[in-house]
Amino acid sequence: MATTGTSRTPLTQLSSWKALEEHYQKIKDLHLRDLFAKDPKRGERLSTEAAGIYLDYSKNRITSETLDLLLKLADEVGLRERINAMFSGEKINVTEQRAVLHVALRAPKDQVINVDGHNVIPEVHEVLDKMTDFSNKVRSGEWKGYTGKRIRNIVNIGIGGSDLGPDMAYQALRHYSDRDLTVRFVSNVDGTHFAEATRALDPEETLFIVSSKTFTTIETMTNARTARDWALRTLKDDAAVAKHFVAVSTNADEVKKFGIDTANMFGFWDWVGGRYSYDSAIGLSLMIAIGPENFRKMLAGFHEMDEHFRTAPFEQNLPALLGLIGIWYNNFFGAQTVAVLPYDQYLEKLSAYLQQLDMESNGKHVTQEGQPVNYQTGPIIWGQPGTNGQHAFYQLIHQGTKLIPCDFLGFYQTLNPLPPHHDLLIANMIAQAEALAFGKTAEELKAEGSPDYQTPHRVCEGNRPSNTLFLERLTPEALGKIIALYEHKVFVQGTVWNIDSFDQWGVELGKVLAKRIIPELEAVKEPELKHDSSTNRLIERYRQFKRK
Ligand code: F6P
Repeated sequence: MATTGTSRTPLTQLSSWKALEEHYQKIKDLHLRDLFAKDPKRGERLSTEAAGIYLDYSKNRITSETLDLLLKLADEVGLRERINAMFSGEKINVTEQRAVLHVALRAPKDQVINVDGHNVIPEVHEVLDKMTDFSNKVRSGEWKGYTGKRIRNIVNIGIGGSDLGPDMAYQALRHYSDRDLTVRFVSNVDGTHFAEATRALDPEETLFIVSSKTFTTIETMTNARTARDWALRTLKDDAAVAKHFVAVSTNADEVKKFGIDTANMFGFWDWVGGRYSYDSAIGLSLMIAIGPENFRKMLAGFHEMDEHFRTAPFEQNLPALLGLIGIWYNNFFGAQTVAVLPYDQYLEKLSAYLQQLDMESNGKHVTQEGQPVNYQTGPIIWGQPGTNGQHAFYQLIHQGTKLIPCDFLGFYQTLNPLPPHHDLLIANMIAQAEALAFGKTAEELKAEGSPDYQTPHRVCEGNRPSNTLFLERLTPEALGKIIALYEHKVFVQGTVWNIDSFDQWGVELGKVLAKRIIPELEAVKEPELKHDSSTNRLIERYRQFKRK
């Protein structure tokens, strides 16, 4: 049985894996129409509810035997031990020798989680209290800008995990936000992003939150310097920086070097991965927007899902089920992607957020021990809110040649009751899952009077799998539960694939090469270019035309 850091039986040699391969050959052509016809209670049987999330996984191409084998796989890869290892602060991020403890960010005060013999929970709550105090001051107007004006604009500067989380969650929880505050997010090194985000803002009323775990990320530091110049053009005194800039980082030295007083720095720790960090101080902009009470409710939602994941048997465990069913399509059906389709406009940035969470975590080609994998790892994650997607890319999901497992996500109640909108929205969500699963046969079309020449074009073969997740309403708690659910789903899959889901070495190469090219773009002719002929030519053209 696998445990952290020890080498494991190769995945494809596990008995459950081999059994799944054989089982796949037997059931790959089974149709959801037949599975439902044979088992009238399938919709009830293959659904479960926990932490306020109802999961219907009956529209998947699985049988009881598939589930049994997947659960056996979870045992064989040591999922339970691995969960315990994460929650107890073991250094499961082996390539960086770090603990992986985003679960500590939402643990209650009296919990004890040790890293190197040191309980981290008191520090987590100290930072939360400091964030609370600061947020209250900004929200009440007690924290003033350098010229004595109230802060009305919050601009978070960060990228990746230091941007996507707070931005997604701010959009998701806008309903709970202080509408007198303007909250914006700048991430791209493209100056257009900064220019547009600060357009029409008054520097005297603007607070920048520079969010960067390392405080060395080139995009963020460039935007932060531009922000300082922008603010000081009006405020005209370096002393103003203390009132208009705060930092969220693990790197106090770099924060100091930038000129931000470390009294205005909100810390976190190396055991929080960037893409797992928006419930740390990285969420400061969100806390200011929605208030500390709502932020803490969101943390409680995260924690409820953490506890469910840690304790529930895998057959009722939402992240385990989603993760294992995802493995079934990814590794046996050869599905390349997963569509996440929230039926809620507030969740418009969810798929962008999940792209980083999932793809930066599980986009890996070697095992924890550094051996090349001989199986597929992380899928491509994509999607956008329904019903917009229906009029764009759903055609391919219904009738294209690719198998695309989908997650539908909806709420029984809307935050903006404008009848009949919500009924129409949810009717569409339910109908899409139904249409994908059951399709439309040539016989049905004929019976409806479809002309023969159209029939083959109109046939929807169905058997396209989906999960449906239903929650009461989009509250801060609900958002916390949804995000923790997906975090742990990614963890389950990373465990099966035996990869390090918590490093991101691949991102580094591009960063290093960009650093080499920057001075070459700035120079008119020199230095001599020593790249390949394509890269050299692109740099030459840019140099030639950028000044015209
Ligand atoms: O894209 C790589 C990455 O390291 C992400 O993992 C991280 O979220 C992002 O850059 C930003 O890093 P930082 O918070 O250190 O600026």
